[in-house]
Amino acid sequence: MADLFRRFRPLRATQELRDRNADVRLGPEDLILPLFVVEGKGVDEPISSLKGVSHLSIDRLVEAAKVARDSGVTKVLLFGVPEASQKHPQAQAAVSDDALVSRAVAELKNRLSGLTVMTDVCVCAYTDHGHCGLLRGQMVDNDATLPVLAAMAASHARAGADYVAPSAMMDGQVLAIRERLEQEHLHAKVMGYSAKYASKLYGPFRDAAGSAPGHGDRKSYQMDYRTRLQGVEEVRADLEEGADAVMVKPATFYLDMIERVKAAFPEAPLAAYHTSGEYMMVVHGADHGLFDYQDGLMENLYAIRRAGADWIITYGAVEAAKVLR
Ligand code: PBG
Ligand code: ZN
Repeated sequence: MADLFRRFRPLRATQELRDRNADVRLGPEDLILPLFVVEGKGVDEPISSLKGVSHLSIDRLVEAAKVARDSGVTKVLLFGVPEASQKHPQAQAAVSDDALVSRAVAELKNRLSGLTVMTDVCVCAYTDHGHCGLLRGQMVDNDATLPVLAAMAASHARAGADYVAPSAMMDGQVLAIRERLEQEHLHAKVMGYSAKYASKLYGPFRDAAGSAPGHGDRKSYQMDYRTRLQGVEEVRADLEEGADAVMVKPATFYLDMIERVKAAFPEAPLAAYHTSGEYMMVVHGADHGLFDYQDGLMENLYAIRRAGADWIITYGAVEAAKVLR
């Protein structure tokens, strides 16, 4: 009898045993908090599409980053939300030396120690047409976009960004940024949004960032969700171009890709983006009584971790950190 079956229940008998036998670890230091910065002073404006997230002016951004850091979340990812009047076909506000995000980076690095500042590098919030690259006619022009992304990244790096993270899905974007950083002797690292799928899960973010495309969609540059092998090749290409960290995005519907990428490139720091739509699925699930918010969030984040992500970018980072500490 005894050797006919194995006993697993003793591993789960008490909370202490469950904690001891857990082989998947997650800590606040593995989480990255996205933050949205706007012009002005004293601005802390809740974003209706993204519950619990606000548009913050630089002074309030510093406060929010401090709260995150003090809860153990030591990495933030900045998104600039320019005023409508700042949008331009060539995304000029993204590349100027006193760009909103660059000023925010400088202030964060001056005011707070122990904070890793990452910046999103893409033009969709800065173009009047909302695409992630410059247009030629109706088409997104890959190679014409590269110098703009490189200039944007260089501006962030000069301000002191620790990582610049190109999310435009233009071919060669990591290489263009790397070369520009080297030319200027800047030391920022590059985190590629390497395997980024054209997903319906970005809707709340696009409301928050004012970055929805005015015409068409992003399917000519973001990946088709019916592809698997391309995702591994996208990551390989970013690493060959000199990326210091890579990403799979979204996370929850793409756990297989997280596992696949981790298996193919075990040494490369791998981030997974728990996107705005995924986060709001948890929020709505909780609001509708499906589960408790924290329980739903933690099961979701552990799934992403279990698949192989080193870092998880999530709007729930500070909430999760409270549970994890
Ligand atoms: C900009 C960008 C997007 C996200 C991160 N960077 C939107 C998009 O590609 O349309 C999505 C983040 C989220 O949904 O939380 N290129
Ligand atoms: Zn974009």
